[in-house]
Order: sequence, then structure tokens, then C-alpha cells
Amino acid sequence: MSKRYLITSALPYANGALHLGHLAGAYLPADIYVRYLRLLGKDVVWVCGSDEHGAAITIRAKKEGVTPQEIIDKYHELNKSTFEKLGISFDYYHRTSAPLHHETSQEFFLKLYDKGGEFEEREVEQYYDADYDQFLADRYIVGTCPKCGHAEAYGDQCENCGSDLSPIELINPRSTLSGKSPVLRKTKHWYFKLEKHESWLRQWIEQGQLDGALHHDPKTWKRHVVGQCLSWLDGGLQPRAITRDLPWGIPVPLPEAKGKVLYVWFDAPIGYISSTRQWAKEQGKDWELYWKDKDTTLIHFIGKDNIVFHCIVFPAMLKAHGDFNLPVNVPANQFLNFEGQKFSKSRGWGIEQHEYLEEFRDFPNKEDALRYALIRNMPENKDADFKWDEFIDFHDKELADNLGNFVNRVIVLSNNYFSGAVPQSGVSLKEALSEVRALAQRLTEEIESFSFRQAVLTLMEISSWGNTHLQDVSPWKLYKEDPDSQAIKDCLFISLQIVALLSLLSEPFIPFTAPRIRRLLGLPAIQRGSLKDAFSQLASGDALLPAGQAIGKAELLFAKIVDRKDDSRLQIVNRQRDKLQQVLAAEQASQRPPAKPEIQYDDFSKLDLRTGTIVAAEKVPKADKLLKLAVDLGTEQRTIVSGIAQHFDPEQLPGQPVVVVANLAPRKLRGIESQGMILTAENEQGQLEFVHAPKGWGNGFEIK
Ligand code: 2FM
Ligand code: ZN
Repeated sequence: MSKRYLITSALPYANGALHLGHLAGAYLPADIYVRYLRLLGKDVVWVCGSDEHGAAITIRAKKEGVTPQEIIDKYHELNKSTFEKLGISFDYYHRTSAPLHHETSQEFFLKLYDKGGEFEEREVEQYYDADYDQFLADRYIVGTCPKCGHAEAYGDQCENCGSDLSPIELINPRSTLSGKSPVLRKTKHWYFKLEKHESWLRQWIEQGQLDGALHHDPKTWKRHVVGQCLSWLDGGLQPRAITRDLPWGIPVPLPEAKGKVLYVWFDAPIGYISSTRQWAKEQGKDWELYWKDKDTTLIHFIGKDNIVFHCIVFPAMLKAHGDFNLPVNVPANQFLNFEGQKFSKSRGWGIEQHEYLEEFRDFPNKEDALRYALIRNMPENKDADFKWDEFIDFHDKELADNLGNFVNRVIVLSNNYFSGAVPQSGVSLKEALSEVRALAQRLTEEIESFSFRQAVLTLMEISSWGNTHLQDVSPWKLYKEDPDSQAIKDCLFISLQIVALLSLLSEPFIPFTAPRIRRLLGLPAIQRGSLKDAFSQLASGDALLPAGQAIGKAELLFAKIVDRKDDSRLQIVNRQRDKLQQVLAAEQASQRPPAKPEIQYDDFSKLDLRTGTIVAAEKVPKADKLLKLAVDLGTEQRTIVSGIAQHFDPEQLPGQPVVVVANLAPRKLRGIESQGMILTAENEQGQLEFVHAPKGWGNGFEIK
């Protein structure tokens, strides 16, 4: 392992609240990884911050009728404090509106500019909104995606198919400012010559080779990350505009670039550097060691929509600059869906992080309950789906029944049998814990290879091992025969060591619960290096909890959600399920056909509606949709041709009660005279059902 780590998580735009998908994508995995490195005593710095430039911010400000500054202040504070409440333990959460960031970005730009050969100046034609006297960069322009036909694609990207676009490619472009079709106007921009970097980028991504040395083992990179990078490289790299005509952003530091700003995707990743600089300044550290020293490992945690920027564009910028390290890995996650559909704020589908905290305020240990559910189903290599049913199962069956129950049983039994002191035992811990140590070893390897889903399962396996061991020995049975039995002492001595180990191993995943387990055991708070120390103690067969140490009283770590005596927690979860049902119901209602114009009673009374029964049904030849029905109306039998063939099997229809419009003028369909019409209604799933009178009615009755 390397001497020093610099970990980054994607800087979220300060233009809105973050949902659970964001948390599972770039923040929770990094938090697990960083907490683990700290437990090993590593020198690690984890930086993040708000991305406060770009059209995402100014468009939001316009929507809310406030200034961009008000928007970024509001969401910077909200996102920062929500992360803290969920235990996301950044070392620094900076913001790109900070003067140090502006300075760092301008220096970076000038270094590349002065170097020569990295940028090129181009006079280009761009869309312009004459009403607003503004060029229309990126999201200021929408239109139809040329790749997938999505009507609301942005000028820089189609969110439907993920294609990277340029405004000129959009079909029927329109300005999001005035809504009108824009005009083309000349302007000057600076382009980063990305294509110059193509060949080393390919070598670095495909083989891990950088400057003739092995930089990383390409097998440790996720397949979907490498795949996306290679498909980009195969498509050929193009120069990329890194400046914009926008009234919001970092001024381009050139006299001839008045009114122009740096493109947000040029300055945002430099935000990792300025965040580190600000952290170092406040801590009295040297930031350059973290960015430039060869013994530092740089890792970017991101979501899959940011792969190209972190694996191609930013590395090329860093290499062009010359002084900086490149990432050793970019373990991007895929997307998390919510109950089978994409998160959508406008539809009310999904839950934001701060909303969860608010709505689960009375739910005990809500932070770890959420973290655990997200880790168990983390979209590490493919998209995943968050479901409330699974949230309940993970919480009750794994956190409560497995981990919580194990800790609780060990503490209760130790209190009952040994007055709350660790018993004396002569067992060899090396032997007794060999399987547990092997599991712990596997867990560390899983974390180190960014397999957090698997790692948290291994954590549960350790707890299961403890439960099985308790069950196998069953001290409560032995106690009845011989309360002084050495086997009881040995069993609980071993179990207490496992609980002590779990108090450390669980910390990266459930950092609110781990300190509580420590307190139950009378152990000091976790410190940097605690796990490293514990591993060396266990390797030499020493106890983590020595005999005689006083432990505390048991307390419930996880109160089950499904609990016959107390349904308060289930109610909290059910409120979320109800909300989703309401969203669906409202959407279905809005999809129903609009009301028809008012009619008079006389219009209605002209209808002769009668009860009847289908007596025979057959397909109409060469007509997919039509069935020929014989309907008994009590006094007569009618032939009715009905467009229901795709919904009903003719064999099932005889005997079906129906309501018939009996005085509809006959008309010919496929040469058959249809003498009336049958009433049907469409249910929520879009299937047809017959309207009919209650069972037992005869045929020919009038419906009024
Ligand atoms: O996609 C986003 O939300 C961007 N704000 C991520 C930026 S990551 C980095 F480069 F700062
Ligand atoms: Zn598209």
C-alpha cells in the first residue's frame, strides 16, 4: 500500500438537494474507503466541495427568481450539512466560488496557455439569443437529440441517451431564455487539444503504462469504466472548448477574453486541487505532497456520468500541466434507481438525503439503517434499485437479527454469568479465531478492491460465525449443569473478542453504531490506526479485550421495523410507500381522457341501455381487433361487432354479462351488420373490462 492517499468525490452542483442515488454513487463508497484507510493509520485526505459554476446554477437561479449567489449559498450549506449528518466524513468540503479556487483555476489555465501547444484559439459560430443579448452555452439551449430523438436534449448532453452533444447538432434548437429559435453569431473561444493526448491515454487506461512504467494494474479498474473510456478513445478525441460566453463563472485570465469565463468542466476538477490547498492551509500541511509526490495514490470516486471527464479529460489536463499525479483508479459507480424507476424530483419519485433525515427523524439509528441498505445494494458494476421492502429486510434480518442480536447476546450473557467482566480463559485465540481472522482479511481485500457490497456481507459473515459459535456451545444449557464450566468462559471470551473486532470492522459501513459497540465493551473511542493495532494484536494471539475488563450493560442497537408490539417504525416506512402510490395514482388520473363537453338530460335519455349476455363469440376473419358476438337481450338476439379481440379470448366470452347500447343505428363492419355496442372500461393496467349489471340480473333490463 502506498504511503499517502488523496481521495476525491465528485463535486456536486450547488443547484439542488442530493438524493439517495448520489449518496450511493460517489460519497458513501468513498467514505467507506477513507474510514478504512484511517483505521489502518494511513495518511489520507479526502476532499470534495460544491460545484458552483456553469449553466446548472444560473438556470436554477432564474427558475427560482433569485441570484446565482443565493442559489449556491443555499445549496452549499444544505448539501454540506446533510453529508455531515449522514456521517460522510470529508476532510474538506470546499466551494468553487472561493477566491482560492478562482486563483488555482486561473493559474492552471495560464500554465497550459503559456506552455504553448495545448490550447488553440478558434473563431466559431454559436447560437445567440438576441432578446437576452446572450450566447447560449450548454444547457441554455434545448432541442431534439439527433441520436435518440429525445425532445428536451441539452446543448452539451442528452440526458436520455447519455450522448455528448454540441448545440449545433440539436434538431429544432430553442433558447431556454426566450423560448425562441436562436440565431448564429461569431465568437472566439479557447480549445484544449485533447486529441494530442490520445495515444498515452490509451496506453495508460488499457495497460496501466505511464511514462514507460507500470502505473496501475488495469485489472483493478472496473470493466464498465475501461469500456466507456475505450469507446470514447475509439471514437477519436477532439479539441474541446474550455471557455464560454456566460455571465457567471471564473473569468478567463487573458486581456482579450473580456466577458468570457472558464467552462465549468474545466474548473470543477481543479476544485479537487483547491480543496486540498484550502485544507492544507488550515492544517499547516503541504498540499503539493498530496498532488505531486510519487508516493501518493490518487483515487476519484464518481458516478458513471462523469467517467470521461475523470479518466480522459482531467488526466490530460494534469499531464499537460506536467507536475501532477494521475489517478491510480476511478472506481465509478453506475446508477441507483428508486422502486424500479429513475429518481425524478419533478415527478416526486425518490427521496432526497435531507428529506430522509427529516422524515425518519423518529427512526432509531436512521443514518446507519440507510447507509447499510445503500451499501447492500450499491450500483458498483451495474445499475441497482432501492426498494423499501429490501430496506426493511436488510435492517431486520441482517442488522438486527444478525449483528445486533450477536452483540446483544454476548453482552447480556457476560453480564449474567460474570457480573459484566471479561472472563478468564486459557484458549489460544490464534486458533480459536483463525476463521474469523481469515474473514477479516477477506473483508480488507474486498474494501481495497472497491467491492463494498461484498465487504459488508463479509462483515455479516463474521457476525454469523459468532452467532453459530454461541449456538454450538449454548452456554445457557451448560450453565444449568455447571455455572463454573470453563467452556462457558471460553465461549464468551472468544465471543467478546469477535464483538471487539466487529466494533472496528463495522465502522466504515455503520459509523454511528460502531462507537456504541465500543462503549458497550468499555473500549476507548476509535482512533486512526485502531484496526491496524487490533490486527497485530490478533496476529500475535493477544486479546482485544483482556480478562477482567469491565463491560457495560446491553442496549438495543437496532429496533426491528416489523414488530408486532410496536409498529411505529413500520409506519414511517409505510408513509414513504404511500407517497409513491399517490404519485402513481395522480399520474394515472392525469392520463385519463379529458372531460367531454356538458350535455342535457334529453341527450342522455336518448340512450337505450340494456342488460344482456354474450352467447357466442368468434374472430372476424382478417381483422386483428374485431370479434363477432351474439348477445341475448332477453326478447331478441343481436349480432354485435366489437373491437375487443386483443383483450379477450372468444372462447371465454359465452356467459359474460354485458351492457349494450341497444338503439345505436346499425352499421357494417367488415361486411357484418353490427346491431349495437357493448360497454367496456379500461382498468389501471390498460386492460379492458366489461361493464355489467350485478350478478343475477336477467337480460333485457333497462339501465337508467
Ligand atoms: O455532475 C456533476 O454533478 C458535476 N458537478 C461533477 C463535477 S466532478 C468534478 F470534476 F468536480
Ligand atoms: Zn439522446
